[in-house]
Amino acid sequence: MSDRGIIRENDDVLLFLDRKRTFLIKVKPGNSFHTHRGYVNHDDIIGKKFGEAVKSSLSADFMLLKPSVLDYTRKMLRATQIIYPKDIGLILVYSGIGCGSRVVEAGTGSGALTTILANFVGASGKIYSYEAKSEFMEKARKNLERAGILDRVVLKNKDVTLGIEEKDVDAVVLDLATPWKVVPVAYKALKACGVLVSFSPTIEQVINTVEALKENGFVEIEALESIVRRIKVKRGQTRPETLMIGHTGYIIHARKTIKEVIQ
Ligand SMILES: C[S@@+](CC[C@H](N)C(=O)[O-])C[C@H]1O[C@@H](n2cnc3c(N)ncnc32)[C@H](O)[C@@H]1O
Repeated sequence: MSDRGIIRENDDVLLFLDRKRTFLIKVKPGNSFHTHRGYVNHDDIIGKKFGEAVKSSLSADFMLLKPSVLDYTRKMLRATQIIYPKDIGLILVYSGIGCGSRVVEAGTGSGALTTILANFVGASGKIYSYEAKSEFMEKARKNLERAGILDRVVLKNKDVTLGIEEKDVDAVVLDLATPWKVVPVAYKALKACGVLVSFSPTIEQVINTVEALKENGFVEIEALESIVRRIKVKRGQTRPETLMIGHTGYIIHARKTIKEVIQ
């Protein structure tokens, strides 16, 4: 995207009709994008500004939005269940990561959480992402490439429980079935006071992981659940929507101490 927000060939654009109907496209001269509300010519988009609208062949107005990092995760190819925004928020804030952070992540899955982490560590940071299944890793690679963020990620087709090759990392972020098995290797990889954050759908996983953290030199251990309700806003009728996401998972976070000192 140019500085003045003009849309050029090869830019990614989110065509927005309404909250439920959005389409992520890469703008190519001569192409058209077909929807139930008519088709949109890419040539009609090139030269417009982000924030403007384009008319489809059936005169529907599609807003031309600049895709956010969340848009890339919503539209990505799915190999696995991906992390929800409500959980991402807690993972980010408790991991303490920011510009320049070095983070180990496992498992990569579809790469949704990887994309968000890579966005937050910036160009000077790095995500080392472990995935046991090569076919998932390759799908994640495509998703990260599509999001333009692959250069901040090192993908590793390895079982993370067998060891983490990186040392002195700022955070270890886990979204896999057996996080408690990763705790000892995460301890070795983390710098002192580094943070482990783990996402787990079941209470059994939470108990196993918290026990492992206690036995392996971590403190400030906390398990949380984030419950979010979307609000329907209409004057005189504003209230939570009837349906909601009842459960996704729990988040555990903890900080590494130097074992010799606390024992
Ligand atoms: C729920 S998915 C992760 C989804 C990911 N956070 C996302 O947002 O796209 C869990 C992934 O962990 C991987 N996995 C499970 N055990 C693993 C291990 N020991 N080492 C590396 N990856 C593992 C699985 O193959 C799966 O792809």
